[in-house]
Amino acid sequence: TTSGGVDRYEISQREVSLEILPGVRTPMWTYHGTFPGPTIEARRGRPITVTHRNELPVPTVVHLHGGRNTPDSDGYPTDLVLPDGWPAPAHPMHGMAGMTDPRAVVTRLTRDYTFPMDQRPALLWYHDHRMDFTAPAIWRGLAGLQIVRDDAEDSLGLPAGPRELPLAITDRAFDADGGLRYPALDPTLREQPGVHEAYLAGVLGDVILVNGAPWPVHEVDAVRHRLRVLNASNARHYELEAVTDDGRRLDLVQVGADQGLLEAPVTHQFLPIAPAERYDVVIDFAGVPVGSLVRIVNRLGSGRTRDVMAFRVARKAADDSRVPRTLSTDLPTWRRSDAVRVRDFSFRAGRVHGGHGWLIGGLPFDPARPDVTVRLGDVEVWRLVADVHHPVHLHLAGFRVLSRGGKQPLPHDAGLKDTVSLRPGESAEIITRFDGYRGRYLFHCHNAEHEDMGMMANLEIV
Ligand code: C2O
Ligand code: CU
Ligand code: CU
Repeated sequence: TTSGGVDRYEISQREVSLEILPGVRTPMWTYHGTFPGPTIEARRGRPITVTHRNELPVPTVVHLHGGRNTPDSDGYPTDLVLPDGWPAPAHPMHGMAGMTDPRAVVTRLTRDYTFPMDQRPALLWYHDHRMDFTAPAIWRGLAGLQIVRDDAEDSLGLPAGPRELPLAITDRAFDADGGLRYPALDPTLREQPGVHEAYLAGVLGDVILVNGAPWPVHEVDAVRHRLRVLNASNARHYELEAVTDDGRRLDLVQVGADQGLLEAPVTHQFLPIAPAERYDVVIDFAGVPVGSLVRIVNRLGSGRTRDVMAFRVARKAADDSRVPRTLSTDLPTWRRSDAVRVRDFSFRAGRVHGGHGWLIGGLPFDPARPDVTVRLGDVEVWRLVADVHHPVHLHLAGFRVLSRGGKQPLPHDAGLKDTVSLRPGESAEIITRFDGYRGRYLFHCHNAEHEDMGMMANLEIV
């Protein structure tokens, strides 16, 4: 609904059983009864308010990943929406470590999240962000897409309508009767050898879902399509390629990154995608024989996790789309010399509350500890270094990758990002300007289990 120039949405968070695998029901936690949740379509500069109603048996928090919004709508991990009947916490916070957070704003049953949508057109996504419990909540289904558009992008002539396909790629594990398997939720799994290590590394599944369906086959015309790819997996990395029945690899023409359009298209043979990253990619099925398949394959997978989905080229058709040589001219071009500060952050394993966990700069997340204070409007360079694979995500501020491993960024680092995938042992430099709003935000690893096990820090913009 619309009132006073603000588009309003209502989403009820509720438990439903969905038929994800044929013939069995999977109990899930959903946004409004579907998995993924409803896709929210937004126009640049047109604010939206989403009222979330928590009908789940646990507190929730909603975060719009990639959104530029005030801190009170950013889904800080202690800003809980309590379900009806859930005891009000003695302290406005009850993480595993018993920490308290005097700044938490707790509501009961509902909460309005407001997004100005004063940002570049992009594929965003919303997901749960409760402290210590984000990973199992996303695993159980709390994720959905939000697309921001504007007139300039609409007029580029990129494939549109049924030829624009948002693809949320995830993996899940199921038991025989359809229930989701997640180590920390299942006492019988918890005790098995190797399960703790698997949880520490990040939980993987052996079923690949695209938009909630296992290994789907999607019918397409033999024309260009725009694939808006999100890796919504908790921990799985992919290297995606498009392969025809006769073994030919189709070009993946990247037109956008996490935070919207590139300056100019970049052609890839395959695309690495870490949890929470997005790629906007045009693929041309024109040369593919009618009736045959184009498989989207994960080069990092094996067996069941190698296949992601397929396109069946159903018929020839006219193609009025195009991929312009100039896609956008408004990308920030911060230079190293613009930066007023350089900061270093390590992302490494360590001890958290007496057990194994994941640390930023040697510390586990604590909502009460300010980690980084930046001034509104300042440009900074952050040097990030990782022990194992860590996709590092910054709230509020889109950034550019300045260097990777001491060298030039890779082709897929192009554009404006909000998540950068650090490979094992690798360092990267990012540059950003902290503009938008003052207040408390976050940066963290987007391996959802790493995040829950401490790999998150506070970013205070003053
Ligand atoms: Cu996609 Cu802080 O999250
Ligand atoms: Cu985010
Ligand atoms: Cu990590």
